[in-house]
Amino acid sequence: MRIPEKGRSRAEVMALLEAAGAGDLPWREGKTFAYVYEGGRDVEEVAKAAYMRFLTENALDPTVYPSLLRFETEIVAMAISHLRGDSGCVGNFTSGGTESCLLAVKAARDHARRERGIAEPHMVLPVTAHACFQKAAHYFDMDMTLVPVDPETFKVRPEAMAEAIRPETILLVGSACQYAHGVIDPIADLGRLALERNLLLHVDGCIGAFLLPYFRRLGAPVPDFDFAVPGVTSISMDFHKYAYAPKGASVILYRSKALRRHQIFTAATWTGYSVINPTIQSTKSGGPLAATWALLHYLGDEGYLRFADRTLRATRAIAEAIRANPHVRLLAEPESSLIAFAADDFSVFPIVDLMRRKGWFVQPQLGYMGSRANIHLSIDQSTLDLVPEFLPDLAEAIESARTSSSARLPDEMARMLGGLRPEDMTPETFGRLMAAAGTRDGLPEGTTTINLMLDAMKPEVAGLVMTEFFNELYVPPRDPEAVPQ
Ligand SMILES: Cc1ncc(COP(=O)(O)O)c(C=O)c1O
Repeated sequence: MRIPEKGRSRAEVMALLEAAGAGDLPWREGKTFAYVYEGGRDVEEVAKAAYMRFLTENALDPTVYPSLLRFETEIVAMAISHLRGDSGCVGNFTSGGTESCLLAVKAARDHARRERGIAEPHMVLPVTAHACFQKAAHYFDMDMTLVPVDPETFKVRPEAMAEAIRPETILLVGSACQYAHGVIDPIADLGRLALERNLLLHVDGCIGAFLLPYFRRLGAPVPDFDFAVPGVTSISMDFHKYAYAPKGASVILYRSKALRRHQIFTAATWTGYSVINPTIQSTKSGGPLAATWALLHYLGDEGYLRFADRTLRATRAIAEAIRANPHVRLLAEPESSLIAFAADDFSVFPIVDLMRRKGWFVQPQLGYMGSRANIHLSIDQSTLDLVPEFLPDLAEAIESARTSSSARLPDEMARMLGGLRPEDMTPETFGRLMAAAGTRDGLPEGTTTINLMLDAMKPEVAGLVMTEFFNELYVPPRDPEAVPQ
């Protein structure tokens, strides 16, 4: 494919974009229980207008864009006071939860190297911590130990974290809340452990930290998880989740500047401009900063409390319906706005496709280390009005999955998949697996078979299959003469 020879009118280009988006998951109706947090049309309009106003400004150089410096420091200040930090706390605005957590790990690593002389630092995290911490270990070549969680509550036990600590350990991680089951790790206990053993403690509040203080104000039992807990040294919190900001909006906060210093990268050792990057991005659009700042002013504390109340009521109503259904069970009692439910006698994976046909998007999660395969729901303020429509559809999908013959793999196939080893993953095996899963244009035709197959494999083999899948998916269109339509 080549760059189109001639330009087209704005109207034509917009029509092309609209056509390209026609097959995307619709989200405006609030029927998606993942990926999108919907604040309604007015919130969307404010965010878009603010984003467009600062789209082109570049936070690479805050000395010439004082507006962006102001947005960032004010957003961080509001985040610190939301999480009960004191005047010593600092932070930065990042592109998302993953970047915030990567930076927390990078700062901890360099802090350990410079201040403690630990050349090869190690971190300890619950297996329920978001996979972005494993990505951090992978990118920054760090060692880590994944600690199993309590099989009933899915919270990590502090004693189990303590047992995993080694002389090179520098960082503990806890979540408030963790994504998979929506529960809050015992952060106060982890704080005590961190202080006792002279370790850093990062609290991953990417999905929970903005919302949970509002839930507490609404009377929900939310334990302390923020800077009020002694021993917590950094917290990540996303605005592009429950603050309803456009994607690309998160903060990483530190208890002290002394720790944050290790996050910053500078280079005067090349021939170009002086590089000073507090975060991973260098050139950085002002759009997400301006939109986040604008929404904090547009909705205000009052607006966010109202949204939290709607979210809490929707979560409680859905959790109640799942508790009342004899065929499924909540994996854990929800402590936030996230629900995971599973079934003991049948596979829940077909529920994803069955619900998709009814216009809903719910998210499958594979089984791992005591957490069986389940369906995950991220509930937001837009869910509340749809609960009466959602619950009967969900009950029907559960019933169909329970009685469906497509809900299991043939025994022989399950055995074969379970026996695959990483070294068996040749291109031929991958090709056969994709054919068995049923794909069209490189994408699976439905999600049930592929999830059943992945769930039957050893996790390291499933990881290789997923790598191969995306390596095949992101390939340029083949025809070199084709003009994009
Ligand atoms: C607890 C937690 N941490 C980190 C992340 C990663 O955030 P992002 O997808 O914005 O990179 C998520 C995403 O859902 C999360 O729930």
